Amino acid sequence: MTSDKSAISDDLVHLGRPSRVDGRHVNMPVELGSTIVFDTLAAFEAAREARYDTDTLYYGRYGNTASFQLETMLAKLEQAHGVTLTSSGVAAISCTLLAFAAPGAHLLVADHVYGNTRAFCESVLRRIGVEVEYFDPMIDGDLAKRLRDTTCAVMFEAPGSGTFEVPDIRAISNTARAAGVPSIIDGTWATPIFCQPLTLGADVIVASCSKYLSGHSDCMMGMIASNATYHAQIRQTVMAIGDKTGAQEVFLCLRGLRTLKMRMETIDRAGRDIAAWLAAQPQVNTLLHPAFPACPGHDVWSRDFTGAAGLFGVIFHPCSDAQIRAFVDALQLFGIGVSWGGYESLVLPVKPVRTATPWTEDGQLVRFNIGLEDPASLKADLAAALPLLNSTPE
Ligand SMILES: Cc1ncc(COP(=O)(O)O)c(C=O)c1O
Repeated sequence: MTSDKSAISDDLVHLGRPSRVDGRHVNMPVELGSTIVFDTLAAFEAAREARYDTDTLYYGRYGNTASFQLETMLAKLEQAHGVTLTSSGVAAISCTLLAFAAPGAHLLVADHVYGNTRAFCESVLRRIGVEVEYFDPMIDGDLAKRLRDTTCAVMFEAPGSGTFEVPDIRAISNTARAAGVPSIIDGTWATPIFCQPLTLGADVIVASCSKYLSGHSDCMMGMIASNATYHAQIRQTVMAIGDKTGAQEVFLCLRGLRTLKMRMETIDRAGRDIAAWLAAQPQVNTLLHPAFPACPGHDVWSRDFTGAAGLFGVIFHPCSDAQIRAFVDALQLFGIGVSWGGYESLVLPVKPVRTATPWTEDGQLVRFNIGLEDPASLKADLAAALPLLNSTPE
């Protein structure tokens, strides 16, 4: 365990850097370019033949030295056969689903997925004739009953976006694999620092690098990490669609990754501290943080994850929309905005969309993203705003 952890620290520092020649830069430079030229037609043809490889320069859309370095680094961190970068996390999700989708195919999607995953299934995939079925994310091995001959993939998250229940990655992935169906997990929350889903049996990880991996809220990027069975199929789909990450973003993500482990560890400590404090406040009904027992799937989290991200939910006792708005607006250190995983704290009320498993909580769900501020300052900020949620505001 200790050696794994120190290996990750070493990889975060030493991978994804210029090759070892004397007089090199420490970091990969921003590498701009479209056309790549060759001195002979034979060399050009060899490059065209190998254009899907992560070490072959052929044309800018297929990648360059810096993006190959980032892909290779992420593949090692995720214990993957290969990684393909995309222009956003949503592009990683949609390209991966398109790699498996076909008219008449059946797709199983966990009911707790990120809103834009559901939106892509409901718009594009249904339009091309994919039958999308949502399932209870806590289904475990019962997934077998939902699998059909036509099932093309199973898509889920651990934990779920917004509602934070932690499905059993091993049970879902292994049930799907036994039927020859690829499992795709959105691994944005845990990052490879806290969970490596491919080692638990998942076939494909999709993630938003816009969150913790780049880590500074200044970079849009996604990545798809997969095992050898599905890597080529997915990479060729991304290239066929023509999705491409930018040179500046590759630079920013490589740079952000250097501090990933220390950011995650600090954010984990601060997140648990603030979550425990919030759980003790009279306005709070339920804490939805995978590291705490009240969160469905906490036992799975304890078994399969080595830490927790700083994104969690709190269900407050029933109160009015106006009170929630006043509470959120009163917070000084928490920005109001989508996305998460940067260095700054965020807050957002969430209204879960469910179609397979009704959301029955009657309190107000608010999502917190804990950043790198002093936890004491964040608690003081929350303490000043919480009385706005009392039935008679003080
Ligand atoms: C769980 C999850 N996956 C994927 C995405 C999409 O990532 P991006 O914003 O980079 O497209 C998000 C964005 O909020 C997310 O929360």
